[in-house]
Amino acid sequence: MTKGQFDRAFDELPPKRREVLLKFLAGETDDAIAQSLYITSTTVRKHIQDICDTFLVDVKSDLPPDKRQHRRPELIALFAKYKPELLPQSPQNGLICGDGNGDSNTVTRWVGRQTLINELIHKLQGNSRILSIVGITGIGKTSLAKQLAKQPQLSQKLPEKEISFFQEDPKFQVVAERILGAELANSPQLQQNTDHLVNAMVNQLKSQPILLILDMIEVILEPDGKSGHQFKDSLFAKFLDRVVLADTMPSRIVLTSQDRPPIMAQGRYPENRFFEQPLRGLSEAEAIALFRQWDVTVESEKAQEYLQRIFAVYEGHPLALSAIAGEVRESPYEGNLESYWGDYGNEIEDAEALKAKTDGDPKDDKPTIDIFSRNLQDLVKTRIENTFNRLRDGYPLACKLLCRGATNRQAAERRAWLFLIGEFPQNEQILAWQTLERRFFLNEEKSPNSLQILYRLHPLMRRVALENLSDLNREVQPSARG
Ligand SMILES: Nc1ncnc2c1ncn2[C@@H]1O[C@H](COP(=O)(O)OP(=O)(O)O)[C@@H](O)[C@H]1O
Ligand SMILES: [Mg+2]
Repeated sequence: MTKGQFDRAFDELPPKRREVLLKFLAGETDDAIAQSLYITSTTVRKHIQDICDTFLVDVKSDLPPDKRQHRRPELIALFAKYKPELLPQSPQNGLICGDGNGDSNTVTRWVGRQTLINELIHKLQGNSRILSIVGITGIGKTSLAKQLAKQPQLSQKLPEKEISFFQEDPKFQVVAERILGAELANSPQLQQNTDHLVNAMVNQLKSQPILLILDMIEVILEPDGKSGHQFKDSLFAKFLDRVVLADTMPSRIVLTSQDRPPIMAQGRYPENRFFEQPLRGLSEAEAIALFRQWDVTVESEKAQEYLQRIFAVYEGHPLALSAIAGEVRESPYEGNLESYWGDYGNEIEDAEALKAKTDGDPKDDKPTIDIFSRNLQDLVKTRIENTFNRLRDGYPLACKLLCRGATNRQAAERRAWLFLIGEFPQNEQILAWQTLERRFFLNEEKSPNSLQILYRLHPLMRRVALENLSDLNREVQPSARG
């Protein structure tokens, strides 16, 4: 299709269909499009099908009708060619909110989920005092929570305090100290009576509004013996209960968890004061935008098919996608997905086969986290292990750095990371560091005073690294969960 034909087809689209197209290209899911346009998801799919028929006249397709959705990447590729401004890849349209700090080559910028962010901000501005983001490891919970905190509607009113339960056995006192300050939290008066302690914390949240992010609370949960979970320390439950039940509460709490916090199940709170958001992977358009941002080219038809299969088998899981992209963008592939597939496409095919064997259609599942995509969780772990093994074989020093870094739970400055391989020549240290960075092994965050950039491993990367390390070094134990 020439640019002229393309422009004509675009101009002649009926208004509704154009609206669907714009939302689809912006990365919205079929369900979100349906909701915002007051039509059914089936109608949305029909529109997109018709749009494909309009624009993909000269893209040959032997696909049977039930596989026709596979043409979506081709549609997106066509628009990337002729109307790239409609895709979520430039900061102007608000879909990517880069930090503006750090090296733009390596910083992974946020992509998509705009509709969800708007909805959740709306909830937090309304009656939802506690938002619980629940989903499997690496699906994007922590980054979403941080992205929410950055939205001006919240950040202008609520200074953010984040507590990450990255350590193995976090105490309630950590939260108390963070809210009340160490001195007050440890005062004898509050230490003698936990009721008073919890009340003091709730009162503080009432009088000094903040946005409190409690990240990774799965580590403070344990099975309750009835297929649910409970807090190991009941003070957490008491505290959250009182936040919800308080007469007024200007502060907001965002929780992230791999398991559903128990309180959610009870549904006894008024006005949605507790809101649970199950998190799934990115949409296809978002995944494509991410791959572009990561220097992976998806121009050819073959590359598009491969990308679509990668997207489908990992259900848009951002950590899995980034592990693959991190390999494709580097030597010897230099962003060429086809040649990468030539070497490792079999891994994706294996994953497809496994998935076909054990998966129903996860989209039809109720969003209960424990059963949702257990299979996906295994596939993602295997994916990370493959990536890790290749790092070990191809870049031993980078792997050494990764493994040594994994023993450290805290985020650390680059200097501190390099110190871990301080016995090697400096240029080799830097090369190892860059390898980890370019392959997306490291997550960046700002130090509490916002002055430095700190780096840490994603918990799943860390766990895989520690499992390998434990062969060499028995006393270092992996944490319970990734
Ligand atoms: N929307 C997104 N855009 C870009 N990168 C993302 C997005 N969501 C997640 N990621 C990346 O995927 C990885 C996993 O995300 P993270 O928030 O740590 O997952 P979780 O907290 O659920 O384990 C991180 O490296 C993160 O930067
Ligand atoms: Mg997380």
